[in-house]
Amino acid sequence: MLNIAVLTISDKGSRGQRQDKSGEIIRDILSRVESTIIKYEVVPDERDIIAGKLIEWADGGGVDVILTTGGTGLARRDITPEATLSVIDRSAPGFAEAMRAKSLEKTPMAVLSRGVSGLRGQCLIINLPGSPKAVQECLEVILPAIPHAVEIIKGEVTEHTISMPG
Ligand code: MTE
Repeated sequence: MLNIAVLTISDKGSRGQRQDKSGEIIRDILSRVESTIIKYEVVPDERDIIAGKLIEWADGGGVDVILTTGGTGLARRDITPEATLSVIDRSAPGFAEAMRAKSLEKTPMAVLSRGVSGLRGQCLIINLPGSPKAVQECLEVILPAIPHAVEIIKGEVTEHTISMPG
């Protein structure tokens, strides 16, 4: 069972001015794998608030994966990648690379997401873009790799002891 935390990053969402459709889509897609969403919050596009929440969840124990959504683009307030980079201790760029590469097959706008992915201790942190459509397209790309990634991070298996899905 994967323990997932979802952090929606949106100025409007944090003020209650926008429904968090992307968070709902993450919930729907995660229901395809054995997982529980144990933490969920909406925060504004503020670097210190985002970083603080990531640290709190990653260091608190029990969270295997933090999925963030939003704030990865080029707008002035978009700061999610910088907040994430400031808290991870190891990079795991494959998730972000795969999402951008696959997304590019669907829209040339995929290059606008600056999302990153990495580890803080044993917690995997992955930035998803913000729009519901982008979240759907991106999460579907990386979802198959997440359960095995968590097993490896937790030291339950080595990379070679089980075969990869798909
Ligand atoms: N990726 C996919 N798969 N589908 C999309 O529609 N939209 C792009 C990009 N990545 C998109 C996508 C756009 S338009 C933007 S601005 C960036 O994600 C950043 O989004 P964010 O600032 O909401 O995180």
